[in-house]
Amino acid sequence: MGGPEIREYFSEERASQVVGASFADTPDPRLRQLLTSLVRHLHDFVKDVDLTEREWGLAIDFLTRTGQTCSDVRQEFILLSDVLGVSMLVETINHRTGGTSTESTVLGPFHMVESPVRELGDNISLDGKGIPCLVSGKVTGPDGEPLVGANVDVWQANEDGFYDVQQPDLQPQGNLRGLFSTDEHGRFWFRSVVPRFYPIPDDGPVGQLLDATGRHPYRPAHLHFIAAAPGYQPVTTHVFVADSPYLDSDAVFGVKESLIRDVAEVDDPALAAKHHLPNPFHTLTFDLTLLRQVQWAP
Ligand code: BEZ
Ligand code: FE
Repeated sequence: MGGPEIREYFSEERASQVVGASFADTPDPRLRQLLTSLVRHLHDFVKDVDLTEREWGLAIDFLTRTGQTCSDVRQEFILLSDVLGVSMLVETINHRTGGTSTESTVLGPFHMVESPVRELGDNISLDGKGIPCLVSGKVTGPDGEPLVGANVDVWQANEDGFYDVQQPDLQPQGNLRGLFSTDEHGRFWFRSVVPRFYPIPDDGPVGQLLDATGRHPYRPAHLHFIAAAPGYQPVTTHVFVADSPYLDSDAVFGVKESLIRDVAEVDDPALAAKHHLPNPFHTLTFDLTLLRQVQWAP
């Protein structure tokens, strides 16, 4: 004869344990861990700030509007994660390099289309706006071995601070995007324009959050990269322009010191002619190092 089942009812003091116990039978142990920990931290937060019903209602309304702002071309939840530093934290803890390879940073919401395949030396600036710039670099492995035929996928905003997908009626499709393949020395080069700082989309709930907290929506000038080669770990990163405004206050916390480079002005008529650039022109050099893929013993 079993006695009456001992049940623990909800209380302020035991809230996390009671709710945590409700996940005890979750078959997937990782899901169980995630939910139990999430509830514990949420409850701690509610208690820490003595959350009022009105505040919780406002939060639910904010999250509802965040979801309603999402569409095929807009991801307001990722933007929220970005401005709260969560995207960068997840990115950083999942790509620890110990200084041995190019550091990663946020993907951002604008890599939503495949970059057009381009030849080395092509001009990715199709709208002709901005200061011409020769972008070049080398992709190597951890021992400096050149990665021949590595993919180098790049994208950037135009002179007015918008990506082509944000202005489908104003910018040519594929403007300031390109997928390159490195040459026999692991090198890549292409023509573009000097990147400019720009605001993240701030006409939705995330913009209201920034406004209410006295934060600006700007990102410092940058060019996005994904570099990938078979047998190596791909890296998603940016190169940031050294003298750009907002380097020390990126709205999404994406800046890492190791990713900042000078844009130099070069006065070299022969080189300018070789690359079909006006003289003088600007250059931005960014070398990338990829780690080897981890090999699992059988
Ligand atoms: C971007 O750099 O494209 C970006 C990153 C995070 C949020 C918004 C934009
Ligand atoms: Fe960007």
